[in-house]
Amino acid sequence: MKKRFVVLGAAFCMFAMAFAEGGKTMREAFADKFLIGVALNTRQVTTKNPEVQALIRDQFSSVVAENCMKAAEVQPEEGVFDFTDGDKLCDLAEKNGQAVIGHCLVWHSQAPRWMFRDKDGKQVSREVLIQRMKDHIYKVVGHFKGRVKGWDVVNEAIEGNGEFRKSPYYRIIGPEFIRLAFQFAHEADPNVELYYNDYGMDSPRKREAVVKMVKDLKAHGCRIDAVGMQSHVGFDTPLDEYEKSLEAFAAAGVKVMVTELDLSVLPWPKGNYGAAIETNFDYKKEMDPYTEGLPADKQKEQDDFYAKLFDIYLRHSEDVTRVTFWGLTDADSWKNNFPVRGRTDYPLAFDRDMKPKPFVNTIIEMAENAK
Ligand code: XIL
Repeated sequence: MKKRFVVLGAAFCMFAMAFAEGGKTMREAFADKFLIGVALNTRQVTTKNPEVQALIRDQFSSVVAENCMKAAEVQPEEGVFDFTDGDKLCDLAEKNGQAVIGHCLVWHSQAPRWMFRDKDGKQVSREVLIQRMKDHIYKVVGHFKGRVKGWDVVNEAIEGNGEFRKSPYYRIIGPEFIRLAFQFAHEADPNVELYYNDYGMDSPRKREAVVKMVKDLKAHGCRIDAVGMQSHVGFDTPLDEYEKSLEAFAAAGVKVMVTELDLSVLPWPKGNYGAAIETNFDYKKEMDPYTEGLPADKQKEQDDFYAKLFDIYLRHSEDVTRVTFWGLTDADSWKNNFPVRGRTDYPLAFDRDMKPKPFVNTIIEMAENAK
């Protein structure tokens, strides 16, 4: 009797709390603006923890795989494909009525080692790499046909100075690898959206190079639906330049997606925010100042910066079709290990207790007040 009373009491409290919080979720508030997405790892996709599942379901209208659809994961050996985790993500999204974004088909990082080498360890020829790229794209895009809304076809092909990244794809195939990748993806699924995705998009040189690439793709008759601005930003990211890039991409005739949003509060070793995956620096205590919690003034700085970002997105909601956070909670963020391993960062919308940061309510109100 007593136990039943306690259970009933607890259920009532939870109901009362949910009711008192009232307000809309991000998913509801942004419903008529753009998709609001989250990158998930497989542990989050498969967990039975009802709080995690509710957070994913209620707050987001779109999901993307943080790792499990990357080439090294889906084709660890030539001709051996593993779609298990990607399928689980699609199952969850379908249950939740969320759009799945495929990330990513052609990227120098997290590419399987065998991709660029023959069985004797020698670099493959241009023809062989084109064939491997084609087989990979056909198989992966083909597998997820009808379940994935759009693919990051090529990831990070351009450097901050506007030059092509000298990746194995570039060195072995030449700059045409980009066009070929888009062409193969379109052949594999004529209905799927196709995106180019990159970081450091506030750089004017990179902006120009990406615009040129988009125009070149279009001139060759390739489908490209959107440019993805990863947006691994910091307090020193120049928002005027960032907005100019967003505008320049839209003016080039594509939609814009904010694909990997996170806002680090930690010092960056070189004073230059990017996401070059190969970057890594030694741990130093002074580079990890908030292990005991985020001070109120830093939280405020983050709230203000996120409000500025969403002000940009909402003002451009005709062109922006998705904004995706690169992770669910601060505890899971890759930023805790990049570019320095083992730090305590606070880059995302939900904190380590899965509670929304103050800016979440602010951006929900901004969305509701936006025309
Ligand atoms: C990151 C993941 O978050 C990490 O878990 C993984 O160890 C490395 O890759 N740009 C991208 C993403 O396009 O795929 C990267 O994701 C972050 C930078």
